[in-house]
Amino acid sequence: MSWVAVILAAGKGTRMKSSTPKVLHRLAGREMIRYVVDAAKQVQPERMVLVIGHESNRVQELLGDDVEYVEQAEQLGTAHALLQARDKLEGIVDNILVLNGDVPLVSGETIQDVMQHHSATGAAVTILTSHGGSQEGLGRVIRDEPGQVIGIVEEVEADSAQKDIVETNSGVYCFRSQWLWPHLATLPRSKSGEYYLTDLISLAASSGEKVESVTAQNPLEALGINNRIHLTQAEAVLRQRIRERVMLDGVTLIDPPSTFIDATVEIGQDTVIYPNTIIEGTTKIDRECVIGPSSIIVDSFIGKGCRIQASVIEASTLEDGVDVGPFSHLRPESYIEAGVHIGNFVEIKKSRLGRETKVGHFSYLGDATIGRNVNIGAGTITCNYDGVQKHPTFVDDDAFIGSDSMLIAPIHIGARAITGAGSVVNHDVPPDMLAVGAPARLRAKKR
Ligand code: UD1
Ligand code: CA
Repeated sequence: MSWVAVILAAGKGTRMKSSTPKVLHRLAGREMIRYVVDAAKQVQPERMVLVIGHESNRVQELLGDDVEYVEQAEQLGTAHALLQARDKLEGIVDNILVLNGDVPLVSGETIQDVMQHHSATGAAVTILTSHGGSQEGLGRVIRDEPGQVIGIVEEVEADSAQKDIVETNSGVYCFRSQWLWPHLATLPRSKSGEYYLTDLISLAASSGEKVESVTAQNPLEALGINNRIHLTQAEAVLRQRIRERVMLDGVTLIDPPSTFIDATVEIGQDTVIYPNTIIEGTTKIDRECVIGPSSIIVDSFIGKGCRIQASVIEASTLEDGVDVGPFSHLRPESYIEAGVHIGNFVEIKKSRLGRETKVGHFSYLGDATIGRNVNIGAGTITCNYDGVQKHPTFVDDDAFIGSDSMLIAPIHIGARAITGAGSVVNHDVPPDMLAVGAPARLRAKKR
């Protein structure tokens, strides 16, 4: 049997109180809609159609050609949203899988179970229901005496007895195409003014069509995100799943609850992560690193055997065996070669540090290219900004920059050159020379 998946993602998400469309809110660093699209992909539908509306260009920019799109110009409810896909899909496929775009925890396996049950029973409609989760805001599943599903009542329209029903609608549906499209178009508006997709259930049941259901094994899978409290609940579940995945992959988390790792992060075996650490974005951490406590690493590559303590690393690359911190900050576009030591209170921006170079104590290196085995003394500053423009600093291999040197860029310190403690260096220093004073004068270097 052929299937097409339709994901409903046109809603404004009013209850999120946000200028960002609901399905673009992030969970563990990834947009909510990506989780739903991934789950749908796992069941390998022939095509995937996303119904988009509110700020639709932002959703399209995110997902690109991964899916097809139809627009719902006005958000008139979930039935109206699905109806927008009719022209594209009527008559070409046996079954339609419909997923709400705000159900990010649903798994591919669960969706597969619903589809299999639908195919096996030949039902017109099969829904995924949930027991034991929160009922707040959800449609309640109405069953008759023998236990067949005969309808879904939305919370706003439910009487108090119906509100007590603990079985809720999860927002995952399978429809037989031939039955779906003609009936979808006939649904009346509900009292709230919206066209409810869920009204199809009672329509099917009352006209003698078979309505089937599958109950989610884990009620959390059915969690729909309507407000920021739900967002946090889903976030907690996803974060815990990630922690468990990385631990099973051989990473030690000293304190899992205070360790936050984005879904997109990769971490190698035998790396140990200390408490209060946040690892985000496209970060990749190699094997045998020690990260944290109290570190933030964003969009960075960390080589094998690095040690990062109480520091912040953004969009930077560290080769193997680099140590950083405590209390240092690597800002974007820093490239740190193997074996470099960056101690405390060091800020590095858009700079390259060569192998085995040391910056031990409270220094600023910006727009700098530092060679190998350079010693940057305590308090060194690349004065890279003259108030108008940024200028580069070059320090060649084996140079020794004395404590409290001010390197006034643009400037080039040659190989093996030395600057004296407290010098203000405002001109290039040739290789093997010593520069001292403020501003520094040139002298022959004593051997
Ligand atoms: C819906 C169900 C409810 C179910 C719950 C599960 C209906 C009427 N109710 O309620 O039974 O328990 O999901 O989480 O379907 N959307 C559109 N266009 C619209 C309106 C909504 O594309 O005009 C999309 C939204 O972007 C969202 C999904 O449909 O992804 C569900 O809409 P939402 O308003 O969140 O429905 P709920 O009130 O949660
Ligand atoms: Ca919802």
